[in-house]
Amino acid sequence: MFDLIVKGGTLPDGHVADIGIKAGKITAIGTLDAEAGEVIDATGDLVSPPFVDPHFHLDATLSYGQPRINASGTLLEGIGLWGELKQVMTQDEMIARALDYCDWAASMGLLAIRSHVDTCDDSLKGVEAMLEVRRQVKDYIDLQLVAFPQDGFYRDPTARDNTIRALDMGVDVVGGIPHFERTMADGAASVRELCEMAAQRGLRVDMHCDETDDPMSRHIETLIFEAQRLGLEGRVAGSHLTSMHSMDNYYVSKLLPLMAEAEVAAIPNPLINIMIQGRHDTFPKRRGMTRVKEMQAHGITVGFGQDCVRDPWYPLGTGDMLDVAFMGLHVAQMSSPAEMRECYEMVTTRSAKIMGLEGYGLEVGCEASLVVIDAGDPVEALRLRAARLCVIAKGRVIARTPRGDASLTLPGRPTTIRRRHNVG
Ligand code: FE2
Repeated sequence: MFDLIVKGGTLPDGHVADIGIKAGKITAIGTLDAEAGEVIDATGDLVSPPFVDPHFHLDATLSYGQPRINASGTLLEGIGLWGELKQVMTQDEMIARALDYCDWAASMGLLAIRSHVDTCDDSLKGVEAMLEVRRQVKDYIDLQLVAFPQDGFYRDPTARDNTIRALDMGVDVVGGIPHFERTMADGAASVRELCEMAAQRGLRVDMHCDETDDPMSRHIETLIFEAQRLGLEGRVAGSHLTSMHSMDNYYVSKLLPLMAEAEVAAIPNPLINIMIQGRHDTFPKRRGMTRVKEMQAHGITVGFGQDCVRDPWYPLGTGDMLDVAFMGLHVAQMSSPAEMRECYEMVTTRSAKIMGLEGYGLEVGCEASLVVIDAGDPVEALRLRAARLCVIAKGRVIARTPRGDASLTLPGRPTTIRRRHNVG
């Protein structure tokens, strides 16, 4: 007897199987003819592990236009706007907006989010707000929080103390922003101190690193060095790494093997990188996304992040990781069947690995979190940004969406239903 059976779905690897769920866990995969509290027919549909966003800013989300829009479209104007906004925004407003976003995310099958939370505020109201959100969504979203000294770990006079306080309050991961410190030397020192802090506390590291078009912004080098020196292999990620787009090719040929050796992961954020980088260029205009395929060729784990949805840096976004992967696929020119398939992994399994999620996946014993998608396979899901027909979180159905079929009434023809998937 199962609580739930998801029947006849196609798994991402192409196998067709039933999935049996009991007490919040996947307890059987195969051909199941047992009783169940509910049977969901997934015949012809993709059954996937949930989407994972390894890089987001939940404290700033859904605040677009407040106090005004980012006219230059740059990272620096966005930081300035956020600096004004966070002074006046109440803790309750932050919680309400973040919970709204989590509703969007849950409906899209996005059930694990790593969110950076700004620690440059002496009241730490944002940290308190996000800890409260983490508590409220824990039954359906794994929310991992990163202590993020947005205004600079050394550049902001109280950021160091506040970042330590945030970690003491239960924030999960150590962040940083070395390219925003006053000097390259300060940036490197911040990476060193923050990595030491993570090593002492047994925490992971995820730094905004080299989010610039400057080919000489090379904090990734220090991050790799510190990861190895402190024995943090497999627990460190560099977010953005956009300067690598512009770096000298010889230098990168030395850097990538070092990054692989230290098991430092990369988190490009394609929607935001394509929108924000290159704003100081004329033509040709650099597109600012890091070297995804080259990293993967070296065995480096790469996960795509969303970064922003309707906030001081980005006016659009829906919480749909298929949009993120779709943009990443284009900007990284990942057009072969295997590369497109890999783009899907980058918003599911690869990002889960970066976050160190336990019990993630479609195997017996894993947490029963999965998504039934109106597509035949992962590439079709990407092509259509297909509907999430049913979202199951920790064994419970939490969202349903109708199929994206169109009813066509064309001149001289009877009305027909045009199915979007498994055609053409
Ligand atoms: Fe970010």
